[in-house]
Amino acid sequence: MPETDGQDSLTFAARVPQVLRALGQAVAAPRHDVPVGMLEGRVTGLSGLSVSISGMKDFTGLGDRVVIFGLDGRETDAEIVAFRQDIAIAMPFNSLEGIGSGCRVIFKLFDKERRKMMAGGALAVNAGWQGRVIDPMGQPMDGKGLLPSGGLPQKIHATPPDAALRARLGPRIDLGVRALNLFTTCREGQRLGLFAGSGVGKSTLIGMLARNTACDVAVIALVGERGREVREFVEDDLGPEGLAKSVLVVATSDTSPLMRREAAYAAMSVAEYFRDQGKSVLLLMDSVTRFCQALREIGLSSGEPPATRGYPPSVFAELPRLLERAGPGVPDAQGNAGQITAMFSVLVEGDDQNEPIADAVRGILDGHVVLERRIAEAGRYPAINVLRSLSRTVPGCNSDEENQLVRRARAILSTWEDMQDMVRLGAYRAGSDPKVDEAVRLAPALEEVLKQSRNEAATLAESFQALRAVFAAG
Ligand SMILES: Nc1ncnc2c1ncn2[C@@H]1O[C@H](COP(=O)(O)OP(=O)(O)OP(=O)(O)O)[C@@H](O)[C@H]1O
Ligand SMILES: [Mg+2]
Repeated sequence: MPETDGQDSLTFAARVPQVLRALGQAVAAPRHDVPVGMLEGRVTGLSGLSVSISGMKDFTGLGDRVVIFGLDGRETDAEIVAFRQDIAIAMPFNSLEGIGSGCRVIFKLFDKERRKMMAGGALAVNAGWQGRVIDPMGQPMDGKGLLPSGGLPQKIHATPPDAALRARLGPRIDLGVRALNLFTTCREGQRLGLFAGSGVGKSTLIGMLARNTACDVAVIALVGERGREVREFVEDDLGPEGLAKSVLVVATSDTSPLMRREAAYAAMSVAEYFRDQGKSVLLLMDSVTRFCQALREIGLSSGEPPATRGYPPSVFAELPRLLERAGPGVPDAQGNAGQITAMFSVLVEGDDQNEPIADAVRGILDGHVVLERRIAEAGRYPAINVLRSLSRTVPGCNSDEENQLVRRARAILSTWEDMQDMVRLGAYRAGSDPKVDEAVRLAPALEEVLKQSRNEAATLAESFQALRAVFAAG
């Protein structure tokens, strides 16, 4: 045997353990983001908004995302929303156009770790998203180019933090709107409902809150708005300074119900990203009603029975799962926790007390703000009925003197509400009731305090000072 051959085999023999070790390392540290296989299925039927798919059995579960290859070659993402025997029922994130019976469907198989992360989708959120408008899939919508990449993946359908581990509510938060600072004073991490009909000033108020609230980041979800309104909201209500500290997640009314649902969840996961960095986040969602309507469309399409006012039962199970994600985070080793202070708008027409969504939301949240058409028509903006609005952390978060001021103002406004028609008709004789006399004297000035133009900001201290000034003058 030639000498060199012996040397080569020796060298190779010596290298074997080394090669095995390298191979072992490669096997021991697999890459989670590479699919380990591909499951292929076929579209067997289409009806309404949903697609039936065969071949997904045993490997896919509820909430898994598949890709459908349309006849025109387009790829459509879809989510599995139900199973009927061996057939998976999926709903597309975009339109069903170009999808027919027999179309190919694939589901990427990942290892366990990645699957856990991928179930229901994830967003790679980045601090550079502030100032941007994105869609629920994390794609830019503002024509300002690509979003900065390299973010931390956030589960879109995350579960709320463990109730026992959550921090308590933070200190008082300055909302920058007098009527709210005074009559529904909030603490960081509190969640409020904003109940209003259409056209009474929701978007304007949400814009004011985004600009004026003393928070680090504002995350705004626009769910099911008309397309034209989005630009108006960004340019008129939010303005450049509001936009600079905000991330907007938008799904307009013409998008699929899945997209509208995802807009709410995606905004929540963006807020969670900033909260987990210890920031004070303000989450504004307009509107929860449209989110529930999207859930209703999904539920009914997947074969659920309609229950309360056409809403299937799953809506009322899913709603708290979304709303509970707002609030305080879990404290870090130093005991600091980020907070998501949240305002969820709810559409109410007229004085409909039987509106099931309004009822459910009111029960879950820590307070409500009521906007009324009657007040808007009288020209007082923001059209907040302070007597019907409530924050559950008041009076605990104010000083005794502040509580006294607010109690007195409430009493005067309440008397004024009862008596103003009599007074205006001349049916009340001055001097017959000191309480009414006080209301006649002070209510107009209090109404002035509640008035605030869209470009004006008022801190907590200024708000209480304005109230003191009314009483000092009266
Ligand atoms: N603070 C304010 N000061 C002056 N005008 C206001 C104020 N807030 C609202 N308005 C008036 O009310 C109108 C409707 O407001 P806005 O668009 O915010 O209502 P909305 O509830 O969002 O309506 P929609 O239901 O159509 O979305 C505005 O065009 C504006 O004229
Ligand atoms: Mg609006």
